[in-house]
Amino acid sequence: MSTFSLHTHTCGELRASDLGANVVLTGWVWHRRDHGGLIFIDLRDREGLTQVSFDPDVAGDAFHTAETVRPEWPIKVEGVVRLRPEGMANPNLATGDIEVLATGIEVLNKSKTPAFQIEDKIDLNEDLRLRWRYLDLRRPSMAANLRLRSDFTFAMRKALHDRAFTEVETPALFKSTPEGARDFIVPSRLQPGNFYALPQSPQLLKQLLMVGGVERYYQVAKCFRDEDLRADRQPEFTQVDIEMSFVDQDDVMGALEDVLKEAFASVGVDMPTPLRRLTYREAMETYGTDKPDTRYGMRLHDVTKLFANSKFKVFATAANTDGQAIKCINAKGAGSWARSKIDKLSKVAQAFGAKGLAWIAFREDGSVNSPIVKFFGDEEMEALRAACDVEPGDLVLFAAGERMQTCEILGGMRCHMADALELPREGHDFLWVVDFPLVHWDDERKAYAAEHQPFTQPEEADIERLDSDPLSVGSHTYDFVMDGYEAGGGGMRVHNADLQMRILKLLGFTEEAAREQFGFLLEALEYGAPPMGGFALGLDRVCMLLAGADSIREVKAFPKTTNGNDLMSSAPSAVSERQLKEVDLRLL
Ligand code: AMO
Ligand code: AMP
Repeated sequence: MSTFSLHTHTCGELRASDLGANVVLTGWVWHRRDHGGLIFIDLRDREGLTQVSFDPDVAGDAFHTAETVRPEWPIKVEGVVRLRPEGMANPNLATGDIEVLATGIEVLNKSKTPAFQIEDKIDLNEDLRLRWRYLDLRRPSMAANLRLRSDFTFAMRKALHDRAFTEVETPALFKSTPEGARDFIVPSRLQPGNFYALPQSPQLLKQLLMVGGVERYYQVAKCFRDEDLRADRQPEFTQVDIEMSFVDQDDVMGALEDVLKEAFASVGVDMPTPLRRLTYREAMETYGTDKPDTRYGMRLHDVTKLFANSKFKVFATAANTDGQAIKCINAKGAGSWARSKIDKLSKVAQAFGAKGLAWIAFREDGSVNSPIVKFFGDEEMEALRAACDVEPGDLVLFAAGERMQTCEILGGMRCHMADALELPREGHDFLWVVDFPLVHWDDERKAYAAEHQPFTQPEEADIERLDSDPLSVGSHTYDFVMDGYEAGGGGMRVHNADLQMRILKLLGFTEEAAREQFGFLLEALEYGAPPMGGFALGLDRVCMLLAGADSIREVKAFPKTTNGNDLMSSAPSAVSERQLKEVDLRLL
């Protein structure tokens, strides 16, 4: 650490045991304080902060130079380590017992005054931070996030390497690899009118690597997806992408658990194994989402049967219609909310697709407040109290309608209420959600769409229903859920060319279209493709959760805004006429 010619120590290194040492430090001027006759500079580098004091009686020249330096100037300081005077030690700082009494200073460069102060605890507009990202990265919390990401990525690499996985790089200039988003396309100069697509994931390529005998593959892979962005979605993001062959689903999941456990342990997080497994169906019925945060309860109750004879028409209809359900959650603590505050919840529910949100508030004084309770008999109320463990102070929220939609609405309300009630969520929560349906109906496109992706292996016993009842076909799939986020996902793959073609046709491809887009895969499957399966970990999301951040932008050095802009470089930006001409393009 201390063998560089510019400095002898880092700014986080010196302790009382270094007393009397002659040292040289480099870093940025963080704060400068003039104390009549003495100047103090907090010198900062990525390792920490060291206080440097300048005394005109000790080093007059250095003192005069120190008078001129400003925040964020990089400087080099020479001096002697000494104890801070009685009562001046700072126990909150690793170097807080000492200071460096300067004997010399060299200004390495000047700095304009930054648009914001380089401090962790300042309320900053994120656009400003992104505009000046290289300054933002000087903030200790950002430096810590980058380092955490590096440590975790390294640990994943090591865990995989130690288990005989081979890291293989795959091209970014390739053909469309569908994962449910739009492609970013790149025009070819050498073949005008033709385009590469940036991979939405290395999915097809890793399957070809399995056909190629690699057997255990991984890659820290950049993926590109042109989709609407939000806090946990960026147009380019990183997966730790994994694939194995000659294995079954439990082999893959077991290997993944070992690797993840080891990598999390390396950053001080215990992931107990074997991980809990919830089926997709269980997750939806119990939590109203396929990525539940199970650190708090507030589970969904199915009260469909209870209201079979209800005088409340909405409930009676749902209870007596096939495929519909009535479900509710009990938000403990919200029963004392004012009626106006409860009424606002229906707007929230509407955003999740609800037509209405029925509710019953059980007041602390034993009374009941609700727009629908007038329809309920004593028996129904008693049954409801028992089913949902109702106590004074509870607010029960209901949704009625198509079963899965009802679950999703209440899943959304469950998260909303947990945030509104500030339910504690301590530690991390890890689980698998397994057995997703193979396909769902996409009402917009009026076609079946792959639930995971088009190369997923269906449940063998269900294959006979592929044409007659595709929605009932299960699949070999598993999502890794961490703290209520989909942190990773994977599955077993189709390794039979005919079955793959059948599935592509189910998804709306004609044979020609399938061959045009995926011919190279279909062909490869005809050359002894082994059974295979794998997984991709969303590295940005996992690092965000490990860092306790609320957006993946906090764990990326140069992220984009939700409009897809890089505010520092102004990308995306126009290109010259010449560049367009070279790739045979004209703007409309
Ligand atoms: P999937 O599409 O589920 O699977 O992606 C895997 C994981 O990547 C993360 N992720 C994202 N992170 C940030 N921004 C995005 N836009 C984004 N999109 C996805 C998520 C997700 O769980 N080829 C399959 C994996 C496989 O089957 O092996 C795939 O890409 O955390
Ligand atoms: P209405 O009879 O339409 O006035 O509705 C009475 C209450 O039931 C209101 O609080 C509505 O928000 C609620 N409600 C209406 N439709 C539904 C539904 N599908 N699920 C749950 N609550 C509903």
